[in-house]
Amino acid sequence: MKKAWKRKISVLAWGVALLLAGCVNSEVNSMITDRSNRTADQKQDQAQDQSHTTATTTVMTGKAFMLTAKASHQELAPGVTLPVWTFNNAVPGPEIRVRQGETIKVTLKNELSEPVSIHWHGYPVPNGMDGVPGITQNAVQPGETFTYEFKADVPGTYWYHSHQDSANQVDKGLYGALIVEAKNAPKPDREYTLLLDEWISQAQVNEAHGDMSDMGGMNNMDMSGMDHGNMVMSDSKNEGVAMGHNMNMYDLFTINGKSGPLVEPLKVKKGERVRIRLINAGYLTHKIHLHGHEFQIVATDGQSINHPAVIKDQLLAIAPGERYDIEFTANSPGEWYLECHGEMKGAKGMKALIQYEGSTEKSDQPNESEQLPVVDLASYGTQKTGPFTLDQKYDVEYTMNLNTETRGHETVYTINGKTFPNTEPLNVKEGDLVKVKIVNNSMMDDHPMHLHGHFFQVLSKNGKPLEGSPVFKDTLNVKPGEEYIVAFKADNPGNWMFHCHELHHASAGMVTEVKYAGFQPGFTPDPAANNKPE
Ligand code: C2O
Ligand code: CU
Repeated sequence: MKKAWKRKISVLAWGVALLLAGCVNSEVNSMITDRSNRTADQKQDQAQDQSHTTATTTVMTGKAFMLTAKASHQELAPGVTLPVWTFNNAVPGPEIRVRQGETIKVTLKNELSEPVSIHWHGYPVPNGMDGVPGITQNAVQPGETFTYEFKADVPGTYWYHSHQDSANQVDKGLYGALIVEAKNAPKPDREYTLLLDEWISQAQVNEAHGDMSDMGGMNNMDMSGMDHGNMVMSDSKNEGVAMGHNMNMYDLFTINGKSGPLVEPLKVKKGERVRIRLINAGYLTHKIHLHGHEFQIVATDGQSINHPAVIKDQLLAIAPGERYDIEFTANSPGEWYLECHGEMKGAKGMKALIQYEGSTEKSDQPNESEQLPVVDLASYGTQKTGPFTLDQKYDVEYTMNLNTETRGHETVYTINGKTFPNTEPLNVKEGDLVKVKIVNNSMMDDHPMHLHGHFFQVLSKNGKPLEGSPVFKDTLNVKPGEEYIVAFKADNPGNWMFHCHELHHASAGMVTEVKYAGFQPGFTPDPAANNKPE
């Protein structure tokens, strides 16, 4: 235990150093990267077994990366330390930040007790690099490695996560950001990447045997064995499934793996142009309010928006798997919240303070229950001709009726009445133009539908053509009663998943595939690999 203590403290020290270094303008970037790598190396050297992670999110740049999947514990909120699954010992894993045009290599090393994989969410990688066990590769077994390699051609905000048993593995923390910097675009003065997520703090309470007085600080970190912790966590998961995914279980919301007072403040200077990249790695939609500033939504799912309008005091609803990049000019010195609105218990912890350097004003109050309008992307930005229209000719048309059904005692999530792998695939050939109508017939459930390997253009919402900027996405939230028409070109041969990113829904059936005629995957599924594509 003594030894473990020392390790923790040195990791903590590096975490603090990183924190002081701040985040991330391009000059400081390489320095931070340097430190991040050393931090990661140190951790690798020192922490052969489980160790606690207190470091803030690190940024890795360059062309070759190493991601080690391993179990750990992380303090998410003061006194709440949970067993987590990590890439490089932290949730989120390191931000991978590369330049457009680079070919990048990422080696995944699995130090967990279960197989894992990495999916590059939103990124149009070659099919063999898509990271879906049983569909594009065999799951990476404990002790093994797998190297992902692809050319980063498309700039924007993306993320990576395990796609093995993903409802559980992403929930435990196996995710991080992938940022591809545009080659010829002006850079903002400041950038932050914020990954949103939700947790069940109850697992920790169980683990502490209900004795809250034992829960603070190192004491608590030392007392729990890893296996015990994971067991508790998966127990509450199963309970959750039995309860039909009662999402109220998720009572602790995090930004970059931290909640409440542990969330790092976002430092800005007066006059700076600031970009915030928001990524939802969780299973709930979060409505984000930027206090005190006008802002623009410059991109969604990595794709730019044409002439984005300047708006203020409107909520940005970010569904599971979606990304939004917002930009604002820091023209209002003081301290301001960027916070999640809503009635759920966890919402209170999902706030970051925007702090002006050199300003001592403390002007702002949280106000998470304030009712504000939600931005509608269907009429945001300025019209422009996109590659697809509603009335052109398509080679393939597919209707996806999404529903929630009860089969015996189980709740299942269906596409045209069927659950994966019995759903009807979208059969295409290379070059086909494909139109998909997505209808949500569920009474209560949102379905954020995610297509691998392609972007689609959103053409209409509830029968009405989009009125603003063309919108290109890989993840589109369809609310109960809504109907969207989207279109894409089949330009990336392979077998590609098209599924709900409320991953409980995916694991309970809501998955189909886009399958290219004549495509042969470059691997042989291994029945011993325990492949779980969802
Ligand atoms: Cu974010 Cu099929 O995945
Ligand atoms: Cu769903």
